Amino acid sequence: MSTPATPRRLFVTTALPYANAPFHVGHMMEYIQADIWVRFQRMRGHEVHFVCADDAHGAPIMIAAEKAGQSPQDFVAGIAATRPKYLQGFHIGFDHWHSTDAPENHELAQDIYRALRREGLIGERTIQQFYDPVKGMFLPDRYVKGECPKCGAKDQYGDSCEVCGAVYAPTELKNPFSALSGATPELRSSAHHFFLLSSQRCRDFLQDWTATPGRLQPEVLNKIREWFTPDEQGHVSLSDWDISRDAPYFGIRIPDTEDKYFYVWLDAPVGYLASLKGHFAKLGLDYESYVADPAVEQIHFIGKDITYFHTLFWPAMLHFSGRKTPNHVFVHGFLQLSGEKMSKSRGTGLSPLRYLELGMNPEWLRYYLAAKLNGRVEDVDFNPDDFIARVNADLIGKYINIASRAAGFLAKRFGGELSADLGVEGRVLLDGLRAPAEAIAELYETREFGKALREVMALADRVNEYVDQHKPWELAKQAGMDAALHDVCSVCIEAFRLLTVYLKPVLPALAAQVESFLAVPPLHWGDSARALGKHRIGAYQHLMQRVDVKQIDALLAPPEPIEIGRAS
Ligand code: MSP
Ligand code: ZN
Repeated sequence: MSTPATPRRLFVTTALPYANAPFHVGHMMEYIQADIWVRFQRMRGHEVHFVCADDAHGAPIMIAAEKAGQSPQDFVAGIAATRPKYLQGFHIGFDHWHSTDAPENHELAQDIYRALRREGLIGERTIQQFYDPVKGMFLPDRYVKGECPKCGAKDQYGDSCEVCGAVYAPTELKNPFSALSGATPELRSSAHHFFLLSSQRCRDFLQDWTATPGRLQPEVLNKIREWFTPDEQGHVSLSDWDISRDAPYFGIRIPDTEDKYFYVWLDAPVGYLASLKGHFAKLGLDYESYVADPAVEQIHFIGKDITYFHTLFWPAMLHFSGRKTPNHVFVHGFLQLSGEKMSKSRGTGLSPLRYLELGMNPEWLRYYLAAKLNGRVEDVDFNPDDFIARVNADLIGKYINIASRAAGFLAKRFGGELSADLGVEGRVLLDGLRAPAEAIAELYETREFGKALREVMALADRVNEYVDQHKPWELAKQAGMDAALHDVCSVCIEAFRLLTVYLKPVLPALAAQVESFLAVPPLHWGDSARALGKHRIGAYQHLMQRVDVKQIDALLAPPEPIEIGRAS
């Protein structure tokens, strides 16, 4: 294949999942999106380092560990141990998986903090916060409950009311209590550290950084503009950021303090660098020179809920600590199930593990999600009927069938040898399949996977029309039509190879099977410009099963009720 003159150097991440629970299918969507993009870049000859990590720190994880009777480290290790099954199961090809509790991250987070402090961008301020006298800890907003100050609804969280939608500070709740111990919380003051994001320097930098053309999606930029624009009271969302938490906290100690820790969101994105560093150590590569190299493109795939952290806090942390900033933050929407938000408590869910345990093909899900993804920040709906239709009618019906229709004749009648001629119509068809290679590449590049797959399926339609016109099954019965049969089947195989090149980022395991069936080396994008010519293919094995409605029913059936009162 042709290698580009200068391969791009890409450093790609997905958001670091909280290590408080196993993956859900929303995580898998993010990984599948990024994995497709990464595989595409590699097929183009570019160099990619694709890493992720567990986001280990924070109060919720500390509390969950305590409930489980484990140290936070052991608890996180238990969750980390569940990761490979999912990642391997769905062919997510991260090069490295790290943890934000790893030594690299402690060191890098503290370095970045010290650099920000040298820049005069760290301030200290005393704040009043609820303290649980029984637990002996300051309470995060989520762990204070009480009556809504607006509508009086009982048992509401400390940040917002689920009944009337009001947003407030936990100190405004009536009859507040600690969700951890039930105790009445006391107001106590504590010195907190702030990243001075509202300083003119930070604001100037961020306005400039966010507006750099091509860096962010237009709708993301619009949202950011809102955060910079004063409201009626002259208040701007972009304010100084409280980055410290008091002990006890599972996190990274703030340098020169005894009992203060970084708020989890300070050290979480630093985990991208820590993971890369761990990865480079494993490979024996020089991390420092790589991250300083202006040619390296740093790219983060994230969901829309964490845009603020990645487009404001993170670039500012990097820039003012003397580091390179991300080249792109690619934001995606949320995966929903039949138009509903995913929720375990309501019994609606699509467990990725159950999917695999039911023997469902992971590449069905990859294909289906790819077919629904685009480069914008739009929610994606998983619809069971649509899933079955896309997989059975498009993936199997249009694409896989091309190979199965031709392979048998080639094996039985021609010893697996392809014809070198192909006929005029065949050559025209194949040229038509090669022509859009760059246009399809551009769709992958811009994460317009749905459009890319529609384009590929339209090409598959053309191949199927060609088959229907030339009817190999009839040619096979007619005397003297051997050469024609040979040409038609050879055209089909070559067409199938071209379509496989285009689908390989989405269907890597299937592509590997096809490569062995066609007896060709791993397909690269440039192979779409070549022709197989005279070549002997291997034996056809069945490539992919159809989805059975029963599988989908079993997948989406409510989980077995859990027996209560047995454990401990
Ligand atoms: N730990 C933080 C991220 C730190 S990044 C330095 C976090 N973790 S998370 O586990 O809650 O989410 C991880 C990623 O999954 C985020 O990008 C989030 O947007 C994404 N998703 C969570 N639910 C999702 C869907 N239902 N659909 C698609 N993506 C979703 O946030
Ligand atoms: Zn209310």
